[in-house]
Amino acid sequence: MKDRIDKLLSELESVEIKSKEHLEEFRLKFLAKKGIVTSLFDDFKNIASAERKEVGKNLNELKSKIQDKYNRFKEKLEGGDETSSSETDLTKPAEPIVFGARHPISIVRNQITDIFSRIGFTVKEDREIEDDWHNFSALNLPEDHPARDMQDTFFVAHPRPLPLGGEKQQVLPNGEDLGGAFVLRTHTSSVQIRVMENSQPPIRSIFPGRVYRKENISARAHCFFHQVEGLYVDENVSFADLKQTLLYFAQEMFGEKTKIRMRPSYFPFTEPSAEVDVTCFICGSKGCPVCKQSGWVEILGCGMVHPKVLENCKIDSKKYTGFAFGMGIERIAMLKYQINDIRLFYENDVRFLNQFKSA
Ligand code: PHE
Repeated sequence: MKDRIDKLLSELESVEIKSKEHLEEFRLKFLAKKGIVTSLFDDFKNIASAERKEVGKNLNELKSKIQDKYNRFKEKLEGGDETSSSETDLTKPAEPIVFGARHPISIVRNQITDIFSRIGFTVKEDREIEDDWHNFSALNLPEDHPARDMQDTFFVAHPRPLPLGGEKQQVLPNGEDLGGAFVLRTHTSSVQIRVMENSQPPIRSIFPGRVYRKENISARAHCFFHQVEGLYVDENVSFADLKQTLLYFAQEMFGEKTKIRMRPSYFPFTEPSAEVDVTCFICGSKGCPVCKQSGWVEILGCGMVHPKVLENCKIDSKKYTGFAFGMGIERIAMLKYQINDIRLFYENDVRFLNQFKSA
């Protein structure tokens, strides 16, 4: 028996395993149910008790060497890919990396901030939960001002006393006490106030961010969306500056042939106020469904900052003037990419998002 074990040990040394087939042969020969190891252990039962101890030890050693060799080659041959070679092929091309796509809202926001950065506007962001003062009152929308109805508001209930002091408690018509007038900002104009309160002119910044309105969700409206606000306050800022800035923006955004037109409008925080249309870049103003055959599409609201708003922020309205504008990012993205349902922006369906890979 001892001789047999020794012979097998040297055979084990010399046996070569170069492929999966060899490995399987090896397993069948040594380790399978009817293999050598099993038969040796069967024979072991008949061995004289004097020899048992030593032979048993040798047998166990042999068995674990066989098992080791098998495991080592199994890992080598099957651990990597399907090739039978045990070497990694360094000449093979690497696994391709799958790139994600930027969200269209991010793409358009970045384009807008790039365009304004080039003419010296800095970018600032601020909070989405605002107090009544910054979202309404400071913007010349006092409590009973009918223009508050222009934007349906989400209120934020908070049961604790207001840390800001002085603000009125907010009680809904149904008697519900909201504890204080905190809102989800209805526009990024609140950031105008934040910035003007904390700095003196010259101020030249844009403020991108998310805003919330209590709207029923449909293809054209959602309860939140994104805006970019612009603000320029300095000595001698005029309506002509506003107009030229917006023309520059429109031509950078929609192409150099783009024209703009300003229609008189109303916002409590600007005077005079205007809405701005651009020539339809889809049909070249010939008339199409996007511009509703008019040749023009509306893209933003703007105006000269109301002197009362400057004074609310402790800026001298005799010395300084300013302009402000606000545009909806979704609206511009929908026009640009001809997206006909605003809900697509928030569903994050990869089939939708993947279409913006090259944008
Ligand atoms: N805040 C206005 C809106 O949400 C847009 C606007 C901004 C208008 C700045 C004038 C000046 O509709």
